[in-house]
Amino acid sequence: MSQAIHELLARHRPGHALEQPFYTDPDIFRTDMETIFYREWLFAIPACELEKTGSYVTQQIGAYNVVLVRGADGEIRAFHNTCRHRGSVLCKHERGVGPKLVCPYHQWTYELDGRLLWARDMGPDFDASRHGLRPVHCRNLAGLIYICLAEEAPDFEAFAAKVGPYLAPHDLGNAKVAHQSSIIENGNWKLVWENNRECYHCAGNHPSLCRTFPEDPVIGGVAADGSFPAPVEAHFSRLEGMGAPSRFFLDPEGTYRVARMPLLEGAESYTMDGKIAVTKRLGHIPARDAGTLLLFSYPTTWNHFLSDHSITFRVTPISPMETRVTTTWLVHKDAVEGVDYDLKRLTEVWTHTNDEDREVVENNQRGINSPVYEPGPYSTVQEDGVIQFVAWYCATLARALPPLRVAAE
Ligand code: FES
Ligand SMILES: [Fe+2]
Repeated sequence: MSQAIHELLARHRPGHALEQPFYTDPDIFRTDMETIFYREWLFAIPACELEKTGSYVTQQIGAYNVVLVRGADGEIRAFHNTCRHRGSVLCKHERGVGPKLVCPYHQWTYELDGRLLWARDMGPDFDASRHGLRPVHCRNLAGLIYICLAEEAPDFEAFAAKVGPYLAPHDLGNAKVAHQSSIIENGNWKLVWENNRECYHCAGNHPSLCRTFPEDPVIGGVAADGSFPAPVEAHFSRLEGMGAPSRFFLDPEGTYRVARMPLLEGAESYTMDGKIAVTKRLGHIPARDAGTLLLFSYPTTWNHFLSDHSITFRVTPISPMETRVTTTWLVHKDAVEGVDYDLKRLTEVWTHTNDEDREVVENNQRGINSPVYEPGPYSTVQEDGVIQFVAWYCATLARALPPLRVAAE
């Protein structure tokens, strides 16, 4: 199979969409999971989603099921959600809270830090210390929890060092979840990303978002030469002068980008009237019109960190043509619904936008499924972000595949 994928990659015309199998083929989907999702750092949850000791969530990522749990020491850890006795799923539910992790099958009982505490009638030679839960790499970056399923995780430090200072003023350690939505888009995970990485479609599809978010490709894309128009440069300088790191940064491998971008003139937040949604603001951003701190890190997350609240997005492939998108709205932990914010007002713009994006992604997938589909050219004016994503995908896949076999001479 890897030979066939190499050949498909070799045929790919830069600046063009991918060929049909990349969006439809079960073998390529499995390869995507094995070479990207099982190896790279993945955004899992905002840390505040686990409110107290013993709070846990479970996540299915391809073949793996992971449980993230907050320990008695306040640390969040991740484990493979499979019992060390006969392998049963340990936490059956999507989320919960309890003093220990107890297997539903024979009640082997684990501490929140993964140590096996109790196993009935296992005999005198049984060594509990050798049967702790298998850990998953887990890092807390300024309130965002990332996990990695690989035995050996790639470097996290450069990403953390770069992005941490941008996130710090948003004070995600003092956040709470105001709302979470989880939708299934009937499209390949790469179509979800391609759609996210351009605003060519915004005017035609996103009436609510377009009240505050600029369609200008400079805002959401990647500047080929690293320069920005004077108003954007002035925005960076103004916010950095207030102590909020803002300047655009794209890492050399193209895996993540961070930049604090202006919203439309006068806009403060993603609301229908453009004013802040939460009066008890999350974070210490000194200006309400600070724009949005945009962070994407492939393959799982894009985010908007605003002057009053923050929104995280997580992309989880389910099958070649199904992708889960989980959106979490974060507000200050002391903000009171109905007093400091109205939930509908807080969530309506991105609830609409997500649904509109789901529809365009599903239409895109259905059109690609036709036998006559052939990859068309991306707009170099509007879709440089998509070109960047597809280039990252092709390079990452090519690097991770076993080398191409060369015919013997
Ligand atoms: S499989 Fe978990 S206790 Fe038996
Ligand atoms: Fe969109």
